[in-house]
Amino acid sequence: MKIACIGTGFVGVVTAAVFASLGNEVVGLDIDEKKIDSLRHGVVPFYEPGLQELLVKTQAEGHLTFTTSYELAISGADIVMIMVGTPSAADGTADLKYVYAASEAMAPYLKEGAIVIVKSTVPPGTNSKVHEIIERGTKVFFDIASVPEFLKEGTAVEDTLHPDRAVIGATNERTIATLTKLHESLTKNVVIVRPESAQMAKYAANVYLASRITFANQMADLCELNGADVQEVLAGIGQDKRIGTHYWYPGLGYGGSCFPKDVKEIAAYARTVGETESIFIAVDDLNEKRIPRLMEKYDKLVGGFAGKTVGILGLSFKPNTNDTRVAPSLKIVPWLIEHGAIVRATDPKAIDESKPLLPSSVTYVENAYEAVRGAHIAMLLIEWDEYKKLDLGKIAASMVAPKYFFDTRNQYDPAAVTAAGLQYKGIGR
Ligand code: UGA
Repeated sequence: MKIACIGTGFVGVVTAAVFASLGNEVVGLDIDEKKIDSLRHGVVPFYEPGLQELLVKTQAEGHLTFTTSYELAISGADIVMIMVGTPSAADGTADLKYVYAASEAMAPYLKEGAIVIVKSTVPPGTNSKVHEIIERGTKVFFDIASVPEFLKEGTAVEDTLHPDRAVIGATNERTIATLTKLHESLTKNVVIVRPESAQMAKYAANVYLASRITFANQMADLCELNGADVQEVLAGIGQDKRIGTHYWYPGLGYGGSCFPKDVKEIAAYARTVGETESIFIAVDDLNEKRIPRLMEKYDKLVGGFAGKTVGILGLSFKPNTNDTRVAPSLKIVPWLIEHGAIVRATDPKAIDESKPLLPSSVTYVENAYEAVRGAHIAMLLIEWDEYKKLDLGKIAASMVAPKYFFDTRNQYDPAAVTAAGLQYKGIGR
């Protein structure tokens, strides 16, 4: 199948490379010439495991090309996927200007019978506006469908190649048949729904997962007051098949480019329709307050951060990515510096990305042992593999009293950390 992918951001590049790897003829389109030039040379402008290799391979095989020309990309395409950004507007709702601009720009080049897929995260009802815009610029028959994306950064290639399900929002029989065939090589779990439901399902998945994380964080806070260990509590209920053990480790609250934004959009929507007592508003609010509350708690525990050196391990928003959007480090490091701390920071991939975003007084170092050298406090913010198996004796030997080890991802056995000569502080234990 001939596929045009509009937007070569994170989702766009991964989706283009994966569909090309299945033998489709894919063109990636973006108005950003620098990005297209870089992709043509096989260079992914961000870090994502396995993506660079797939990009080089599919281009070498001739299945994937890149262009800045709408005419080249859209003419002849059986399927056009819109994967442009939907930044948050001032009122918290999604700003759809790029989706609409792409719709307008593609219209004159659409071929008869083309299927336009909206993959960007958009509110239910967006497709009729997209349809209206395209219709103004073309005379051909086309159809619109919604196929939301559920990939995670850090495992994006794997998630796209082997998704748990594909949700296809369409009503036209031919469109349903074509998109089912396209997705069946990725998963047998194809769920056909109306477009509005597909769009809502995307929000629902992210908001549900964000709520689940917030639940774990709230439970952790209670455990700290009564001697329970939240990890044991979660293990104790996880065998209930209705609950499960997955995806709710407590920590610093959810970050990244998706959960915070999508929860805010649903919270804004709830407010708009008068649902002001909504759980979605509460989840957003709790997540916003999570880090400031924890920092106040830590400040009391260490007797004030002023004059203390803090070693920060992990600057990205999660492991295996250099993405720093809504990363805990962006709140924690400025907070520490405002409160008089001296910060030494490290990350396997995100140091260059963090530098322009963090105060200039931060010292960046190569690894965890360097970050905690001479530090009073070590803060493990992100569970990169290399921070999960630290030589605790070496860490303790590099630090100076009171040698606090803040394990904000509960990666360590508190007893082992204490035995190494450090003062352990996890989350909810
Ligand atoms: C998320 C969803 O998981 C994807 O399914 C979705 O497609 C994507 O958003 C999107 O909308 O594009 P992603 O933002 O890449 O993916 O990252 P996650 O692995 O879901 O982590 C999000 C945040 O939650 C991170 O800050 C992470 O540290 C935090 N988290 C995750 C927890 O605090 N606890 C957990 O148990 C899991």
